[in-house]
Amino acid sequence: MSTKRTFTMIKPDAFGAGNAGAILKMIEEAGFKLVAMKITRLAGDAAGKFYAVHHERPFYKDLCAYMSSGPIIAAILEKDNAVADFRKLIGATNPADAAEGTIRKLYATSIEANAVHGSDSDENAAIEGNFFFSELEKVGV
Ligand code: CMP
Repeated sequence: MSTKRTFTMIKPDAFGAGNAGAILKMIEEAGFKLVAMKITRLAGDAAGKFYAVHHERPFYKDLCAYMSSGPIIAAILEKDNAVADFRKLIGATNPADAAEGTIRKLYATSIEANAVHGSDSDENAAIEGNFFFSELEKVGV
């Protein structure tokens, strides 16, 4: 079934390197509409809560430290088939495996500092969007 919304973060590496504008341009040019967006920071234990599903993974602690290390952009995006199409646009988790022309191939520096996050299912897109935005903030277009 095609889905309408997904959730993304432009991570501290890409935001800090000044690549947020270029990444947002790629996202809009690929046909995604911005439904909600803000610059924020995963301070305190917020990164741990957001990535709780990875709690048992060996990279969890480093991932949380990295994700709270600087500002990020959080956004809800809308497009038919949003979750799958966005994962195609960003490329593989490890930039070394990402296809040419994908956001991670262009802007990620490592498997951890991989420039952007994209939800992996409709269910997680809703959970992750709700983590950052109230219903009133999801203005749509
Ligand atoms: P993301 O799509 O945000 O989902 C979980 C994140 O964990 C992932 O992007 C990477 O930033 C990070 N990650 C996944 N696998 C590894 C790994 N093997 N080593 C370090 N970080 C990882």
